[in-house]
Amino acid sequence: MSDTVQRPAAPSTANCTPEQYDALYERSVQDPDGFWLEQAKERLDWYTAPTKGAEWSYDPVDIKWFSDGTLNICYNAVDRHLDTHGDQIALIFEPDSPDAPGRSLTYRQLHKEVTRVANALKAMGVRKGDRVTLYMPMIVEGALTMLACARIGAIHSVVFGGFSPEALAGRIMACESRFVVCADQGLRGSKTVPLKANVDAALAMQGVSVDGVLVFDHTGGEIEMVDGRDHWFADFASDDECPCEEMNAEDPLFILYTSGSTGTPKGVLHTTGGYALWAATTFHYTFDYQPGDIFWCSADIGWVTGHTYVTYGPLINAGTSLIFEGVPNYPDHGRFWDVIDKHKVNLFYTAPTAIRALMREGDSFVTSRNLSSLRVLGTVGEPINPEAWRWYYEVVGKKNCPIVDTWWQTETGGHMITTLPYAHDMKPGSAGKPFFGIQPLLVDNDGNTLEGATEGNLCITHSWPGQARTVYGDHDRFEQAYFSTYPGRYFTGDGCRRDEDGYYWITGRVDDVINVSGHRMGTAEVESALVLHPKVAEAAVVGYPHDIKGQGIYCYVTLNAGEEGSDELYSELRQHVRKEIGPIATPDHLQFTDGLPKTRSGKIMRRILRKIAENDYGSLGDTSTLADPSLVDRLIEGRQNR
Ligand code: WTA
Repeated sequence: MSDTVQRPAAPSTANCTPEQYDALYERSVQDPDGFWLEQAKERLDWYTAPTKGAEWSYDPVDIKWFSDGTLNICYNAVDRHLDTHGDQIALIFEPDSPDAPGRSLTYRQLHKEVTRVANALKAMGVRKGDRVTLYMPMIVEGALTMLACARIGAIHSVVFGGFSPEALAGRIMACESRFVVCADQGLRGSKTVPLKANVDAALAMQGVSVDGVLVFDHTGGEIEMVDGRDHWFADFASDDECPCEEMNAEDPLFILYTSGSTGTPKGVLHTTGGYALWAATTFHYTFDYQPGDIFWCSADIGWVTGHTYVTYGPLINAGTSLIFEGVPNYPDHGRFWDVIDKHKVNLFYTAPTAIRALMREGDSFVTSRNLSSLRVLGTVGEPINPEAWRWYYEVVGKKNCPIVDTWWQTETGGHMITTLPYAHDMKPGSAGKPFFGIQPLLVDNDGNTLEGATEGNLCITHSWPGQARTVYGDHDRFEQAYFSTYPGRYFTGDGCRRDEDGYYWITGRVDDVINVSGHRMGTAEVESALVLHPKVAEAAVVGYPHDIKGQGIYCYVTLNAGEEGSDELYSELRQHVRKEIGPIATPDHLQFTDGLPKTRSGKIMRRILRKIAENDYGSLGDTSTLADPSLVDRLIEGRQNR
């Protein structure tokens, strides 16, 4: 087919050839238990090796893997490498400013630092099973703290450093976390991010209280410390001993809040053994990781991509992972490429939104750099348009680097659908083939299975080790959100096409989740933020196609009686959403309207709102069931995205 890009010939070291993929995939779906128990023994060190594979049911939902095995993921990511890789670099830190000093840690140093952090946490009173909230910039201390929590059996809940104090407070309360770890400040594109001040603001809110805050000195900026509550990391004695807690494979490892169709973000819970195996296996195969490779995933550790592919995946594989605090366009649009040249990055993993933004600046920022160290390129987070894919492949990768377009979710723990570098030809815009053990299923809206080349709603049938186990504290919500739409199946929320070669093409969310610059957001969250404003009566939020961000945020707002829409109120509401959620949720368009298009039973017809937001109002379909059909003309008249 003309739109297929041939894979490079497999080098002798390749982790997976086409024949191996076919054989391993076949085995993984015919005998999942045998396959994954074997992988579990090969890729992880266990105190007690598991003899049980999957014990799972989707109705009622109960998912376990390796339930008679015990291990510690920090031991697997750090301690076990000391004899063989003690002097190898584990983490490289590249600061925001190219002129600031960077840092790198060998596995031996990593072990020492993780131990120190673990002991500091213990000294603050953190015990096995406690939830610890991290609110960190992209510095090595973020990864260290995740590992330190895992070492002592505490459950980490990382909150993206770009979220507001309000959002942080909500997440601290939701998992009843009694400890927060932060840095004094972060740096992004030369701007400071007031992390500790945000923590203070969050902890001043009603109903939020914690026992201790651990603070890393990163910028040395002015901050306030509360006596008895806040502790500088540097003030804890450095003690090099801290044993790893022996954890059951099903003991919780972390909670990560993510957006869904309804309500507040869900605390997706991952457990230890299955997640560790998923991170290890996907990292090894998807990036064709070879010993000595320098791997750089540009995602923030506040997202699942940062969990699995900045911290756990690379380190469990004894790899070298680069942590970059800055942004792609500071000091100029060549920064990513400078970082790649400086550290001789071999495997690079980023988001389509970054690729599109850099592509817009022209090729010269790329062609003026060397980039010959690159071997495999990856993307994640949203569908990549073929034009951006081509640019990444041709200009960045010089047609020498296979691209892996990895489809997965917070709930899946790691990669689910992707081509493998030397096993599959690529099709720009298609994620490709299912990973080992993954059995995708496309269904129509009534849940009927669709066969062959077709398009439908993407479900996964058999459980896989990296699958989320529950929503923290609300198992019903877990069942409702993922297993009730199509009973007996895990429903991803994504639409998908399967072509005649069995390649999967993700078409985007089919629920009320939008994807803004690779950040997943519930339209309901933005609506809740808007209606908290005293002048707002009702709000409906939809996504619309955006050249750089993938999707933009379009808000329809009705005001309370007596209020008038104005430029001032427009800015005030945008500001208000930033304050409630964070800058990533800033509305792109906001339209004041005297009503929302509802059916006579009161249901908002979002289809109409989406069309108008897309500036595609010629084909609104049937509007006769609206309570007030004349509203549509007024909505079109007032549309903001012209
Ligand atoms: C979308 C990020 C197309 C998808 C790892 C999914 C993608 C949601 C891709 C999960 C991709 C992620 N192609 N769409 N390669 N990767 N998505 O939980 O809609 O932040 O459901 O996990 O991002 O977002 P999340």
